Amino acid sequence: MINYDEKIPNNVDLSTNKTLQRALEHWQPRFLDWWKDLGPAVFQNNEVYLRTATSVDREGWATFGMVRMPEYRWGIFLAERDPNRTIGFGDNIGQPAWQVVPGEHRSTLRRLIVTQGDTEPASVEQQRALGNSAPSLYDLRNLFQVNVEEGRHLWAMVYLLHAYFGRDGREEAESLLDRHAGDADKPRILSTFNEPINDWLSFYMFAYFTDRDGKFQLKALAESGFDPLARTCQFMLTEEAHHMFVGDTGIGRIVRRSVEVMNELKSDDPRKVRAAGAIDLPTIQKYMNFWFSSALDLFGSEISSNAASYFANGLKGRPDESLYDDHVAAGEYTIETPRGSESVSMRNAMNEITRAAYVRDCENGVKRWNNIIRKGGIDFELRLPSSRFRRTVGAWANVPTDPAGNQISPEAFAAGIPNWIPTPDDQAFVASVMQPVLEPGKIAGWIAPPDRGINNLPVDYEYVRLAS
Ligand SMILES: [Fe+2]
Ligand SMILES: [Fe+2]
Repeated sequence: MINYDEKIPNNVDLSTNKTLQRALEHWQPRFLDWWKDLGPAVFQNNEVYLRTATSVDREGWATFGMVRMPEYRWGIFLAERDPNRTIGFGDNIGQPAWQVVPGEHRSTLRRLIVTQGDTEPASVEQQRALGNSAPSLYDLRNLFQVNVEEGRHLWAMVYLLHAYFGRDGREEAESLLDRHAGDADKPRILSTFNEPINDWLSFYMFAYFTDRDGKFQLKALAESGFDPLARTCQFMLTEEAHHMFVGDTGIGRIVRRSVEVMNELKSDDPRKVRAAGAIDLPTIQKYMNFWFSSALDLFGSEISSNAASYFANGLKGRPDESLYDDHVAAGEYTIETPRGSESVSMRNAMNEITRAAYVRDCENGVKRWNNIIRKGGIDFELRLPSSRFRRTVGAWANVPTDPAGNQISPEAFAAGIPNWIPTPDDQAFVASVMQPVLEPGKIAGWIAPPDRGINNLPVDYEYVRLAS
């Protein structure tokens, strides 16, 4: 169980390590200042129906209740330790998992933790204005649930930095609050986490595609030979599932509404769909092209000696490493590059192997959305673009292709882009339909209602109490 009597809820016996406890209690007010300044721009003092982790076992870890966000009990929760755990891959396979940081891997592990940690507060910053345009109290609550949990993920990484990396770890923890999404001078580390999220279509795309990158990174780190990192990430994954649910169902509900409107109008003309206040399917496709291609860069270069050494040293595995037969990754892997097929050592292809698993996972939602379209009798298919499209990292960086992945001239690419990703006009239209709807049970006209409420409550429950 988690100890909630302490200032910082935790299941790591924080009270037995006074130095660490003091350091984290020193960081806590800085975190709260950051939350108040750069967390949700509105509704900070309203009660929100939020879940809070109260135990780390798979079942029954969540407690639901009305909470004002600045009073949320952010804490430090690691999955239970398995005293017999061994390193599951790479050159150190079979050796006991590390309970302290091996000196030779210290800076690499710190960098991996900082890079993961940086994404968590970044997304809260990116999403901070969305409360002004929520389509329902149900959606508003889901946004805030995602936000407080990303805040907790920041705590998870800061705990590791403070507990295992001494002074430079504490300095990195400070820097996690000093960089900001989209800041010209001190931006977040990864480019996707500097993109503005100004409308709810972008938010759902982000929760579906970008949080899913997070899932795959956490799965890879959950395999780490550094046991505290593995256990931290295992527990974060239980929270992450809800974020992707929010994205998946959010996009599905926008698609459903678009199909309903087309059937009411007896027309699939995107201009008529827009005039009726819904978002047309070609625009949804453009947003998907943008956020999916942006997320693909997060996996890094197709051929990477860094990824190979993370794997060799047991620092970062493949997601679901246990599903592979060969945990040494001795074989070869074929990678498509602009120069043709290249055979590289499996270890050098780890980023591409993880990206390919991610793409397969992304396809599941696209199938569900297309089912909604097909059942509505509409002749349109959403498609993930090729993983070559619009890349800025790796073998396909700055190689102009169309969304199907065919190489084209730079001129054809420039001419095609307004048809492939959202234009300023598309963004202005999407923003224009997003007028806030804050009455319990009411829903904006551009999105269908959810199938069910949160935690068996009805859809029309007052998930955010407006009278505070
Ligand atoms: Fe997260
Ligand atoms: Fe997330």
